Amino acid sequence: MNPILNLERVTVEFVRQRAVGRPRQVLHAVNEVDLEIAPGEAVGLVGESGSGKSTVARAITGLNPVTSGAIGVDGNSVLRAKGKDLRMLRRRFQMVFQDPYSSLDPSMSIGSTLTESLTVHGLERGPAAVERAADMLLAVGLRSADLAKYPHEFSGGQRQRIAIARALMTDPDLIILDEAVSALDVSTRAQVLDLLQGLRRDRRLAYLFIGHDLAVVQRMSDRIAVMYLGRIVEVGPADDVIRNPQHPYTASLLASVPQVGSRGAERAAELRRRLHVRADPPDPWNPPSGCAFATRCPFVMEMCRAETPPAVEIASEAVSRCHLATDAGRGTESEARWDRAREFLAMPSPAS
Ligand SMILES: Nc1ncnc2c1ncn2[C@@H]1O[C@H](COP(=O)(O)OP(=O)(O)OP(=O)(O)O)[C@@H](O)[C@H]1O
Ligand SMILES: [Mg+2]
Repeated sequence: MNPILNLERVTVEFVRQRAVGRPRQVLHAVNEVDLEIAPGEAVGLVGESGSGKSTVARAITGLNPVTSGAIGVDGNSVLRAKGKDLRMLRRRFQMVFQDPYSSLDPSMSIGSTLTESLTVHGLERGPAAVERAADMLLAVGLRSADLAKYPHEFSGGQRQRIAIARALMTDPDLIILDEAVSALDVSTRAQVLDLLQGLRRDRRLAYLFIGHDLAVVQRMSDRIAVMYLGRIVEVGPADDVIRNPQHPYTASLLASVPQVGSRGAERAAELRRRLHVRADPPDPWNPPSGCAFATRCPFVMEMCRAETPPAVEIASEAVSRCHLATDAGRGTESEARWDRAREFLAMPSPAS
C-alpha cells in the first residue's frame, strides 16, 4: 500500500553567523531523515530535547523550510505543490501542538476557530460549516453549545479536545501530534489519549505521535522512530523498540525510565550506570564526526568516530544506524569487547 506520508532524506538546516567576519555555522536540525507512514498507521517519534522531532513536524506542515529531500503525501510532493494543489494536500494532514493555551486564538469563539479551518482550505462555509463544527465537538466529547464559547471558558484538557476537533475539520488522513498531551495532568492525559485512539479507529487516521513519555508513545504507536541529533537512529515495531532496543542510544533513553521495557530492574540499573557516564549532549552546531552518539556511547569503537553508521535493516521493518548492527566493526575491536556490546544490546548476530 502507498504510504500516506513519505519522507526521503529530509534535511532541515539552520544557519547562524555569530559576528561579522566569523564563519557561518550550520545546524542540521533534521539530517537525511527517511520515514514512511502507512494509511491508518501510528508512528511514534521520540528522542531527547533538541533532537529534531518538532522540526520534522514543522517541515511536514510547511512551517520550516526544507533544505533538501522530498516529502510526499499520498504520492504528491508537498514541497513542489503550490497554490490550490498545496491547499488540497495540506488539508489531508493537520497538526496538534503541545500548548492548548497558545494554539487557540483567545478572541475567537470555538465556532469561528473550527469553521475558519474550513474557510482556509476552501471547504464548506455558512450553516454547513457550523453543522460540521458541531459534529466535531461531539466527536471529541464536547457539546454543540460550546461553539458559542471562548477558549478561556475551557480547561486545558478541553482546549486540547478543541484543538483536536479543529484538526479533524478538514477530514485529514494524518494528524501530527507534537507533545499534544504532555502539558496535561495524568488523568486528563489518559482521557485525551483514549479519545485519540477512538478517533483513530473510527476514522482510520494515521498519527505521527511525538512525545517524551516512552510508555505513552509505546501505547499509542505501531512503530517507533528514535531521533538523536537530527537523525533517526532506530526505527521498528513499537514493542520491539521498547523491549529490545537495538541502538545504544535507544537503550540509554529506556535506561532513564526503568519501569518501561521488560529487561528487568537489574539490567536497567546496569544500563543506567553505564549509560549515564557521559551525560553531556554534544553541541548541535558542532556535532562529533562519525556517529553523533559516539561521544556518549558506552560501546564506542574506533570506527564510530570516523564513519557515520549507515541505516541497516536489522529485521523486517526495523532499522538501526549503529556499527554494532553490521559486521564492519568486528576485528577493529577486541572480540571480547564486541561480544559484550552485542550481548548487552541482546542483538542477534547479523546474518552472514
Ligand atoms: N528556528 C530555529 N533556528 C535555529 N535553530 C533552531 C530553530 N528551530 C529549532 N532549532 C534547533 O534545532 C534543533 C532541533 O529542535 P527541535 O525543536 O526540533 O527539537 P525537539 O526534538 O522538538 O525538542 P523538544 O523535545 O525540546 O521539543 C535544536 O538544536 C534547536 O535548537
Ligand atoms: Mg519539540
